[in-house]
Amino acid sequence: MAFTVAIDGPAASGKGTISREIAAFFGFEHLDTGLLYRAVGFRLLEGIEPIEAAKTLDMSALDPDALRTPDVAQAASKVAAIPEVRAALVDFQRAFATRAGGAVLDGRDIGTVICPEANVKLFVIASPEVRATRRHKELVEKGLEVSFDEVLADVLERDARDMNRQDAPLKPAEDALVIDTTDLSIADAVAQVVEIITEAG
Ligand code: C5P
Repeated sequence: MAFTVAIDGPAASGKGTISREIAAFFGFEHLDTGLLYRAVGFRLLEGIEPIEAAKTLDMSALDPDALRTPDVAQAASKVAAIPEVRAALVDFQRAFATRAGGAVLDGRDIGTVICPEANVKLFVIASPEVRATRRHKELVEKGLEVSFDEVLADVLERDARDMNRQDAPLKPAEDALVIDTTDLSIADAVAQVVEIITEAG
């Protein structure tokens, strides 16, 4: 029986780390759906038309390192507002979600659009300052030269675009549990989510 966990939330809320750890804990497969949009955004920066890029995306060849830059993130949130781009990525995500053995998908619209029937739906939030601090640290550790203010502006701009688009805007599903990681360590957040999933399963 497939068991699906949907984890949505704004940029750098901690949902990616929580999803990875939950997948490892329960032995579920994990799909970071942001990488799909980032891959299309990356192609856009290379001059490739985004709808075509989404339709021809090689999902097995996503390179997270090349895709986790602020420029690609901005391009991703622009292409993510195009309904035909989103439509081209739906089938892959839904097929992934129903894999035997369980799956965790994280993104912006997993609980609302991709997997409205998910067994567990979470919406992970944190204050913009905390999110920008975490993302800034990650980028600096990777050797990127960006200021905290640039990262904060990037996060806020993407959130606004993601929340205000017509198609699949960022918002919690009606039955999603909200996890606020502002004052919570990732370890504590993971422990909470493990408990929620254990109770649901
Ligand atoms: O999660 P991440 O920051 O990698 O996502 C990059 C961008 O991809 C987001 O800002 C959002 O615009 C888009 N996205 C989306 N739907 C998803 C996952 C990501 O629109 N399920």
